[in-house]
Amino acid sequence: MSEVITVTSGKGGVGKSTLSANLAVGLAEAGKKVVAVDFDIGLRNLDMILGLENRIVYDVIDVMEGRCNLSQALINDKRSKSLYFLPASQTSDKDILNKEKVAELIAALKKEFDFIILDSPAGIESGFEHSIFLADRAIVVSTPDVSAVRDADRVIGIIDAKSQKAKDGEEVLKHVVINRLRPDMVESGSMLSVEDVLSILALPLIGVIPDDEKIITSTNDGEPIYYDKNSLAAEAYRRIAKRVLGEEVSFLDLSTKKGFFKRLFG
Ligand SMILES: Nc1ncnc2c1ncn2[C@@H]1O[C@H](COP(=O)(O)OP(=O)(O)O)[C@@H](O)[C@H]1O
Ligand SMILES: [Mg+2]
Repeated sequence: MSEVITVTSGKGGVGKSTLSANLAVGLAEAGKKVVAVDFDIGLRNLDMILGLENRIVYDVIDVMEGRCNLSQALINDKRSKSLYFLPASQTSDKDILNKEKVAELIAALKKEFDFIILDSPAGIESGFEHSIFLADRAIVVSTPDVSAVRDADRVIGIIDAKSQKAKDGEEVLKHVVINRLRPDMVESGSMLSVEDVLSILALPLIGVIPDDEKIITSTNDGEPIYYDKNSLAAEAYRRIAKRVLGEEVSFLDLSTKKGFFKRLFG
């Protein structure tokens, strides 16, 4: 059985592509055959995060339009051999995706892969609907700020409205990832807490990723943070991958020491 996981959000720039890349690596490292598909047409960046931008010859639109076959377009990851990548097209025509062709592509990928990770554009873009309609599971990423959470909430409504599963009377699994959490800011009351975000979105949590500067350098180096043994964010991604595989793992304790004492002693 293969599973299509759409990584999505209401607002752009909240960490979808970074999550898509690191989740794909995590599932591949667990021995699964994984493909990460960049559906953010016009805005290539999953390739950068995976360090594969120099290997791109064909893209997802070339496959859909029949200019090449799937095997020609799939790029094997340099480190995780069971991970493959399908790049976004850099066309400026965001409406180029077509429902039948997307369905054909996903069906072909399902024959080959255990997990198909779709890195979607933000919920306001036109490609969003195409990335959601064949999803078995949606991971909604939000940063802990009011505008991102509000936009995420809107997207959650659209997921059910636009998905094939919902049309068939089934439910799309939905989870929330809270990204770029700053425990010090939560403790000082200047950032929404995990509980605040969950009370608005009312979906199960599948991960909390701390804000981590190393993510920016890892993207520049084309080396997913996942492989960094000393990064808390990497550990957060590893745990998300485990949860997707059905393992029960605890959430990272991200509270600062100061916050811990503050809770103890008021
Ligand atoms: N946990 C994090 N800590 C610090 N920076 C992050 C984190 N997650 C993402 N970023 C940075 O935020 C920016 C947007 O991330 P990206 O994954 O491209 O978002 P999206 O795909 O939603 O537009 C990138 O510069 C990325 O390196
Ligand atoms: Mg992106």
